[in-house]
This record gives sequence, C-alpha cells and structure tokens, in this order.
Amino acid sequence: MNYQPNENRYDGRMEYRYCGKSGLQLPRLSLGLWQNFGDISSQSEAEKMLCMAFDEGVTHFDLANNYGYPAGTAESNFGKLFKKNFAAHRDEMLISTKAGYMMWAGPYGDWSSRKYLISSLDQSLKRMGLDYVDIFYSHRYDPNTPIEETMQALTDIVRQGKALYVGISNYPEEAARKALWILAENKTPCLIYQGRYNMMYRDAENGIFDALRESRVGYISFSCLAQGVLSDKYLKGIPKNSRAADPHSELHAESITDELVGKIKALNEVAKKRGQTLAQMALAWTLRDDVVTSSLVGVSTCKQLKSNLDAIKNTHFDAEECQAIDRIIFG
Ligand SMILES: NC(=O)c1ccc[n+]([C@@H]2O[C@H](COP(=O)([O-])OP(=O)(O)OC[C@H]3O[C@@H](n4cnc5c(N)ncnc54)[C@H](OP(=O)(O)O)[C@@H]3O)[C@@H](O)[C@H]2O)c1
Repeated sequence: MNYQPNENRYDGRMEYRYCGKSGLQLPRLSLGLWQNFGDISSQSEAEKMLCMAFDEGVTHFDLANNYGYPAGTAESNFGKLFKKNFAAHRDEMLISTKAGYMMWAGPYGDWSSRKYLISSLDQSLKRMGLDYVDIFYSHRYDPNTPIEETMQALTDIVRQGKALYVGISNYPEEAARKALWILAENKTPCLIYQGRYNMMYRDAENGIFDALRESRVGYISFSCLAQGVLSDKYLKGIPKNSRAADPHSELHAESITDELVGKIKALNEVAKKRGQTLAQMALAWTLRDDVVTSSLVGVSTCKQLKSNLDAIKNTHFDAEECQAIDRIIFG
C-alpha cells in the first residue's frame, strides 16, 4: 500500500474544537487503538483504518502502553504504520499514550510512581519510533502514590520534551481536582481528562464535568458505544467476529442479557427516527454537551469507522429525544 493522504481532508468534513482553555484543537471524533491494532488483529485492516481516519480529518490517535494483545503491540504496530505512511505528516497528528495499568513484572511496572511513568513513556516512544507524544496521560489514580509525585513526573516529562501536554484518566473527582490544581501550580496545566462516558454510563456528570468546566480543561469520552453494545451488533445474538465473542476482550457474552437487548432495540428505534444508526446516535449523544471536546471511536473495520464518523452530522438532541433515551435506559 502506497498511501497518499486525501488532499481534501481539511475541507470541513471533520470539525475541530479547542480543548478547554488551550490553543490546541481536537477533532470531534478521535481514533482509539485499544483493541483491533495489536498482534492478534488484522494488520491490513488496521492500516486501512488509520489511513481512512486521517483522510477523513481525524488528527488524534489515542494509545496506551498496554493497548493491543499482547500488551504493547498496538504501539509497536502503530509505530510501523506511522513510519510507513505518516512520518511526513507528524506535525498534523496528535498522538497520545498513557501509563497506569500493569505493564511489566516487579514493583515498577504498574500504577503511578515517577519511576513507572518515566520508564514507561521511554518504552512507548521506542515502540512507536517517536521523539515525543502530544499528550501523555496518567492512566489511573494511584491511592498509594502521593499525587504530588505523579503530577511532578508529568510536569518533568513535559519539561524534558517527551510530551507536549499532559492529561489524566479515570481519576475520581476529588483526586482530579487536586491533580488539576497541582499541574496548574507546576505551570504544566492539565490539557484533558479521559473518561468513560456513554448513554448507559454517566458518572462524569456527577462532578467531573463541573470540575473541568471550572478549570476549563477538556474532556475526551471513551467506550461511547459501551464496547459495541450501543450498536445494532447484538440485536440478533452474539456474532462470531464480535468483541463479546473474543476471549481476550473485557466485554463478556454473559453481559448481553435479554433485558439489555430489549433496551438496545428500543434505542435503535429512537436512532432510526433521528435518521442515524444506533452507533452514530450513541457517539453523537456523548458530544451533545460542550464540555466534551472529543469522543473516541473504537472500531474493528473500515466500514464501522466510515459510518461512525458521520455521527458528527447531527449532535443535537431535543428534550423529547433525551427523555425517550433516559426512559428506555433507566425506566
Ligand atoms: N482511558 C481508559 O482507561 C480507556 C479505556 C477504554 C478505552 N479507551 C480509549 O477509548 C477507545 C474506544 O474505546 P472502546 O473500544 O471501548 O470503544 P467503543 O466505541 O465503545 O467500542 C468499540 C467497539 O464497538 C464495535 N463497533 C464500533 N462501531 C460499530 C458499528 N458501527 N457497528 C457495530 N459495532 C461497532 C466494535 O466492536 P467489534 O470488535 O465487536 O466489531 C468496536 O471494536 C479505545 O480505543 C481507547 O483509545 C480508554
């Protein structure tokens, strides 16, 4: 594959939003590489998905040290494809990575000590063949490491030029507020918070969004489709080529209950009335509040990606639609 990016990729097909008070703009939809880019995934589809995303104006690609199966292979495969297709376009791309979950054996390969974060980012840069990442995240709050130590490590990573911006992910509200304060004091303001947000999982609305609005920090949503549940995929059982059927995935077949399928069917009808697929409606729903700068799209095929990117064509929900969705989900 000799990739030449689409010359029309910035013709308005994608929207960009300023991330909180920063001068950095993010595409409304970004591509996540958690699953489907590791060694057990099709490398030709992975390459096509990356190229399609870039052609459609997606400039942000989200990774973590442990993404892919086996862990680390999403970064190494991304690195190969970056070198082959995107090296000339580095300055048009926002590449993020993270550390916080178990990555290597022993006391220094997990959680959020300075030792782990700095060593892990060095490994990530090597795997991806990059000099720096655009955003480096503390992937989760570590109750056993002083938050000052974790934030100082993020600050020093920026000062060393290994990341341009820093973010936090999965932090509970109180720890998030403290982290934002320390990073501001350190003059390396937090750019963005990455958290799970979808029609069925709305924890961010109970404090995190307020904290981000107050500090004018951006938000990027993940698992907007609840790992594929909020699509038409499971309406007629569990397909073989689905995440719920994959033994390496965190979505278990038992969680697709009849009750859940009933709700998905009803949501599917709401989506149809809006002229959207359920996946498009689920993504659009996460973007309806201005506090959300971008939402991550996780896809296993180019077909899913192409269709999901159309979600940005209608992100407005009227009160009636919101009530219908809430009634279906919460009764
Ligand atoms: N910070 C964190 O702790 C954290 C945690 C999780 C994720 N993330 C980030 O968020 C990204 C997205 O997360 P996610 O993968 O959980 O997202 P998701 O969007 O909830 O689920 C993605 C899965 O949904 C299915 N899907 C997508 N579009 C579809 C469509 N049009 N029709 C039918 N099925 C469709 C595919 O599953 P099949 O494989 O079954 O086709 C796809 O792999 C990750 O890649 C990562 O970057 C971050």
